[in-house]
Amino acid sequence: MKRSFKIAVLPGDGIGPEIMEAAIEVLNAISKKYDLQFEFKEGLIGGAAIDATGDPLPEETLKTAKESDAVLLAAVGGEKWDNLPTDKRPEKGLLRIRKELELFANLRPGKAYTALLDSSPLKETLIKGVDLVVIRELTGGIYFGEPRGIEERKREKVGFNTMIYYEHEIKRIAKLAFEIARGRRKKVTSVDKANVLEVSALWRDIVTETHADYQDIELEHMYVDNCAMQLVRRPRDFDVIVTGNLFGDILSDEAGALTGSLGMLPSASIGERYALYEPVHGSAPDIAGQGIANPIAMILSAAMMLDITCKVPQAARDIENAVEQVLNQGYRTGDIWSPGTKKVNTREMTEAIIDFI
Ligand code: IPM
Ligand code: MG
Repeated sequence: MKRSFKIAVLPGDGIGPEIMEAAIEVLNAISKKYDLQFEFKEGLIGGAAIDATGDPLPEETLKTAKESDAVLLAAVGGEKWDNLPTDKRPEKGLLRIRKELELFANLRPGKAYTALLDSSPLKETLIKGVDLVVIRELTGGIYFGEPRGIEERKREKVGFNTMIYYEHEIKRIAKLAFEIARGRRKKVTSVDKANVLEVSALWRDIVTETHADYQDIELEHMYVDNCAMQLVRRPRDFDVIVTGNLFGDILSDEAGALTGSLGMLPSASIGERYALYEPVHGSAPDIAGQGIANPIAMILSAAMMLDITCKVPQAARDIENAVEQVLNQGYRTGDIWSPGTKKVNTREMTEAIIDFI
């Protein structure tokens, strides 16, 4: 029997629609090979949604997302909306959909591709063989903690936010990290600032407690500042990094930058019931509409969907493999191009990947 999946497709802004089109073409190719059926339904998010409805996450989009098996999101934001107040900006649509779908874990793999070793800012000897995943808590911590605000105290303005974690929030992300480590190299680095913050001291205790059920996994704790340093000194030593929302935001950008182009990095945001897949990069308004954007991060995000939501890991490996082969053959979009390689546009890159599949 054909397995069928409802996918909410949210192209968003900038290069979003172009790379989304590429990912859908790849999924259509995969569906033939693996006898899967995808039913795609489009929705508005970000600046595109603000222009059409005044709301970066219209009710209808949320409904489409909640009725689907998975959400594919491309990118939101752009200069046009940069001057809006924080709670009206395209980014708010992204934060709200994460919260509404209770996507408590954000998975960002960072992998060094042999063909792209020279595009890493680090020496080849350091970056070769890097294969890690940052698991960032996504619906709690300082991003959502109350109280928050800007107000007047003692006749001057103060700005404040609250970094807060409930035990259950720490426990569920720690469990997920240990489970994921089991399918990898069995090492978890939990990152906090327990030498200064109470919220981190609790984080450390709960992670250690949760580890009791996962004795086959090696656990280490690391302060966030030290982790930022070790990531550039010995990135190969990391397997699974688990951390809170803000530290994860920062460290996942750092981990992403290690391996070269942002245009290569996929992500998955998962919860108990829903899952959303999106590239790590933004909407790149400077190259939007030209058909030259790198579709690989979006395509690899679709591969993560095949793996985690559709549970067809073989199809995911197929896509990852095709990406690797195409890179080995020298195909490069502008962002990863170097002398001696073949410069291609979004369409050509997508077709080359589909040919391999
Ligand atoms: C990310 C982004 C978002 C975040 C922004 C756009 C709100 O930086 O997905 O990492 O901080 O979570
Ligand atoms: Mg970020």
